[in-house]
Formats: sequence, C-alpha cells, structure tokens
Amino acid sequence: MTVTAVIGSQWGDEGKGKVVDYLAEHVDYVARFNGGNNAGHTVINEFGTFKIHLVPSGIFAKNVIGLIGGGVVIDPRVLIEEIEMLNKAHVGVDGRLWISPRSHLIMPYHKILDGLYEQAKGEGATGTTLRGIGPVFADKVSYNGIRWSDFTSDAFESRLKVQMELKNKIIIALDGQALKYNEVRDLYRSYYEKVKPYIQELFSLVQAGLKAGKNFLLEQAMGTFLDTDWGTYPFVTAWAGDPPRYITSVVGVTKAYTTRVGAGPLPSEIHDTSTEVYEQFAEVAATTGRIRRVGWLDLEIVRTAVLLSGVTELCLTKLDVLSGLKDIQVCVGYKLNGKDVTYVDVDSYGLDKVELVYKTIKGWKEDISKAKNFDDLPAEAKDYVTLIEEAVDVPVKWIGVGPEREATIRR
Ligand code: GDP
Ligand code: IMO
Ligand code: MG
Repeated sequence: MTVTAVIGSQWGDEGKGKVVDYLAEHVDYVARFNGGNNAGHTVINEFGTFKIHLVPSGIFAKNVIGLIGGGVVIDPRVLIEEIEMLNKAHVGVDGRLWISPRSHLIMPYHKILDGLYEQAKGEGATGTTLRGIGPVFADKVSYNGIRWSDFTSDAFESRLKVQMELKNKIIIALDGQALKYNEVRDLYRSYYEKVKPYIQELFSLVQAGLKAGKNFLLEQAMGTFLDTDWGTYPFVTAWAGDPPRYITSVVGVTKAYTTRVGAGPLPSEIHDTSTEVYEQFAEVAATTGRIRRVGWLDLEIVRTAVLLSGVTELCLTKLDVLSGLKDIQVCVGYKLNGKDVTYVDVDSYGLDKVELVYKTIKGWKEDISKAKNFDDLPAEAKDYVTLIEEAVDVPVKWIGVGPEREATIRR
C-alpha cells in the first residue's frame, strides 16, 4: 500500500494537475481533498487538453477510482459540466467517480457575497476567484453550510430557508440583489438529481482500499502559501486537511520560477512587465483567465513548504520555460534590517519589506523540451536542479520539460 500526497510548494498553479495525471498510472484511487472549483488543474494527455476544477486529475487512468472528499466545496453546476465534458471526451467517469455526501455546496449567495466583500475591502481586496470559496468555508465552520446529505431529508429546504433569509439581509445591506428562495431551491434540487448517482459515503470505500493494500494518490488544490494558517494571510484561500497517518510519501510540486494570482506578497516578483523574462514566465490563470504575476524561484518559500508538509521528494515543473535566459536569478534567503530572517519570522505585511538575497546562475540556450533523461540536460540545467536539491534537502525525482504528460523526466 502506498499513499502519496501531491502538494503545491508555492502559491498554486505549480503544475499539480499534470503531475497527478502522470503519477495516476500506478495507483488505484485518486482523491481531491481540499479547496473547491477555485482550483484549475491543466492536464494534457491522449484524451486532449483539460482545465479541471473539481474532478481529480488522475481520472484519466482507466482503472482509477476518483474521489471528491468531504473537505472539498462544490459548485454543482461546475461539477455537472465537468462530468459531462469528461464523458464526452470518452474518459468515462460513471461508476468510478464518488463524491462525499459530507462535501458542502457553494450556493448562489456565496458567490454574491464573495464579490460584495471584495468590493467592500477595496484596496485591501484578496483578489479572489469570485467562486464563493471564502463564504462557503465560513458557513461550514459556523454551522450554516448545506451538504449533499441534506437532500436526503427535509433538511435541505429548512436550512436553505433560514440561510436565504439571513443572506438576503446581508446582500441587501451591501447594495446587492436579493435572491428568490423558490428559484434557488428548484435549481439546486435539479442539480441534486443529476449529481445523486455519484454521491456515496467514502468511509468504507477508503477503509477497504487501505485494508486491501491499494495505492492512493491525494491531490491537493492550491499551494502551501495560500493556506489560511501558514500562508500569506489574509491573501490566502480556505481548505480542510486530511489525517496523515497512512501517508507514505509527499511529493512537492515546485515550479522552476514563481507565479501568483490575486493580491498579496510575492517577494521575488518581477515587476517590469516589459522585460523578456516576464514574457517568458507569464501565464494565463486556468480558472479565471487572469494573467499570473511572476517572479524568480524563491528557495526560502520552497524550503518552508518542504518542512511544513514533510515533503519527501520534489517534482520540478516547467524547467523548459527557463531555456534561453542568459542568467537566472534564484532567491536563496531573506534579510530584514541587515539580519537573516525566514518566512515564518514575518507576516504578510513584513514579507513585503524583506530584502532578498539572490544567487545568479548561468542559463542555457538549448531547447530541453525533448529531453528524456537527466543526462540529456545541459550542464547549467543540471546545476539548477542540484542547487534546488541542496537548498531544500530533498531529491528532485521528476522534472517537467513540457505541459504534456509524457514531457517528464524521471530520475
Ligand atoms: P495546477 O493548478 O498546479 O494544476 O497548475 P495549472 O494547471 O494551473 O498551471 C500550470 C501550467 O503549467 C499549465 O498551463 C500546465 O499545462 C503547465 N505545465 C505544467 N508542467 C509543465 C512543464 O513541465 N513545462 C511546461 N512548459 N508547462 C507545464
Ligand atoms: P490551483 O489548485 C492559484 C488564490 C486566488 C486569490 C486567493 C483567494 O489551481 O493551484 P479564493 O477564490 O480561493 O477565495 O481566492 O487564492 N487561489 C489560487 N491561486 N491557484 C489556485 O488553485 C488558487 N485557488 C485560489 O487567486 O488570490
Ligand atoms: Mg491552477
């Protein structure tokens, strides 16, 4: 039995989707355990190109059973569209995708409140995806949430009625448009009818799998520094964790540079958008279509993520994107008022003030996108990988040299 957790070591979008799709070939179960459809995981394989928000990225492996755990928050419309899209692409998810009845539903008022809170925060806005994530998690922990299991009794209607009265009052106070109870009830009832065949308590399924020595892959959404406790609060997102007892390895997915979407500190940010490096690193966000902010690789961030999650091996993604740069900067540490500081010594606002210590590495000219083995890489690219391994003290076991599943070097 193996249980491999795949986690993002930066601010999300490290390439987790691709890595999970790659690793899924050898496992029996792939579970999404946190976040919601604020996630956007890109998978490129023999079925096509997909931006997946809720269904585990490992679902493309034919024998895999996909699980959406109780910690995930779900916008039913997005889930239904995703299931239909995957079935249309002949991925065939019916009978092997199971959703926990404990997972909470994102309701229309969560999305409205997300937007109204962001507006009210003005300059201090988080830059959320406006998918209702913060408000649905707030409802979950304050006992105001609605779960799939509520549809099996009259709990759905009675709970919705109370919530809509409450939420409409807040919406109106913030100059928003009130929602109609009957419309929301009927819409969500129709969603439930479509999702019902996929809802199943996961407890016995997981327990039986563990007992039978099956292999599990746990797919995290978001990245370490978007965590509400350890991330750059309040510029973070919300999630719930998993018990770690059975985890046999933790794969940290690290992008060869850094990106971030939304507001908040990004210490190694490249601010000059007219530079060649900026153009080379720039990406479009998979969920919102916003342009991602970019920066050099920040080893203080990766080192912290490795320690926080007990990462046992790294998958370095997007090394190919660095090709052609004359010099590559890598942040190797922080200073504040002339003294060495670490990520945990400062808060989000302090992080904006730290001075970065950079190391300059010689770049390489060669296109590495066809490289199959570590030895196919130019010496400078190998040095870059070694520098990361030495700085964070875990081996780089996989290297991404392109967005497709196969564009992966295994060491
Ligand atoms: P996730 O949220 O962590 O799954 O990452 P996203 O899918 O949001 O963003 C990662 C982007 O990088 C996507 O466009 C991927 O197709 C792409 N990608 C992943 N790994 C590699 C790689 O090794 N090389 C290149 N060039 N692109 C990659
Ligand atoms: P994946 O799984 C990058 C960011 C948003 C915003 C903050 C809060 O694709 O790596 P939210 O809508 O979640 O309340 O927004 O969190 N964010 C992500 N950034 N990748 C993600 O997911 C993200 N999920 C949330 O941009 O700054
Ligand atoms: Mg993403």
